[in-house]
Amino acid sequence: MMPMQGDFDRDIVVLDEVDLSADIYAAMATTREVAPECEDSADLTPMDKESGLAELYRARLHETAPRISALAEVVSRRLANRDMAVIAPSLGVAQCALEQQRFVLFALSHLLGTPTATEPRTRRVLWDVKPRPVLNVEFATYSEHANEAELHTDNTFNAHPEAFFFLYAVQEARCGGGLSYFSNGMRIRDHLARTASGRAAIDLLSKTPVSFRVPSTLSQDPMVPEYISATVFSERPEIRFRQDVILSGLKARPAPDNADVADAVNRVAEAAQSVRTSELKLPTGAIAFVDNHNALHGRSSFKDASRHLIRVRMTA
Ligand SMILES: [Fe+2]
Repeated sequence: MMPMQGDFDRDIVVLDEVDLSADIYAAMATTREVAPECEDSADLTPMDKESGLAELYRARLHETAPRISALAEVVSRRLANRDMAVIAPSLGVAQCALEQQRFVLFALSHLLGTPTATEPRTRRVLWDVKPRPVLNVEFATYSEHANEAELHTDNTFNAHPEAFFFLYAVQEARCGGGLSYFSNGMRIRDHLARTASGRAAIDLLSKTPVSFRVPSTLSQDPMVPEYISATVFSERPEIRFRQDVILSGLKARPAPDNADVADAVNRVAEAAQSVRTSELKLPTGAIAFVDNHNALHGRSSFKDASRHLIRVRMTA
């Protein structure tokens, strides 16, 4: 029997609520002990891996912040198991100062993997997802505007999109919008593989690199278009997708097989829609951990300008 849309929600693991509040001061003290130059949590950059600092930080956190450490352990096991998304409905710190919540997230990201810098200029680990004025909304990242964010791979225009990321809700949207949904890459492929045209789409998009236009905030010169090229299907990430960006890349760079590629891309988008989860709200204080090499994620539009999420991306 064909699964109903709601059935795909089973690919999302929902954990029990946790309370990390007792670890806040330890997370702050340990971070400052390992990185004494850090003043403001918003400016924290990744702990250096080469010098062993990241390893030292992780080891110290295991000793000083057992609750954060235990959560990271559970989530890591789930993601290693290739669960598409893991949600903790509360970290128990939403009532604390934002500065304190940020230190918990910074510590958590280092216990889960190696967090990456959000952009080359400031190299901050914690990225504020909230609407901001942008030069051209068409070439902005989804995290910068309030329109619908269609199903996509996070950091899809990077040479190596991170293996996973988390989204923490500092302030949920109070307008009924800003809902999250996911689509499982393995199910997208299975869905496509059922028809000859779907199998042809997988085949074509496994061997034909497509162009992804780099958003203005992340490009060297915001006025000069920049592209990276990669296949939609590969070994890792298993799927790399953002329909609008790929289609506009095809338009900007004419080639003989563009029509076939566009057709295949549209088929993937349709398949992603047919296996997507229902929309779910990430309430204030909740966090979602996502397998970015397999899951596509999206978000409905919202009007509440005070909606505020923090995103961190990590390599394994
Ligand atoms: Fe995203």
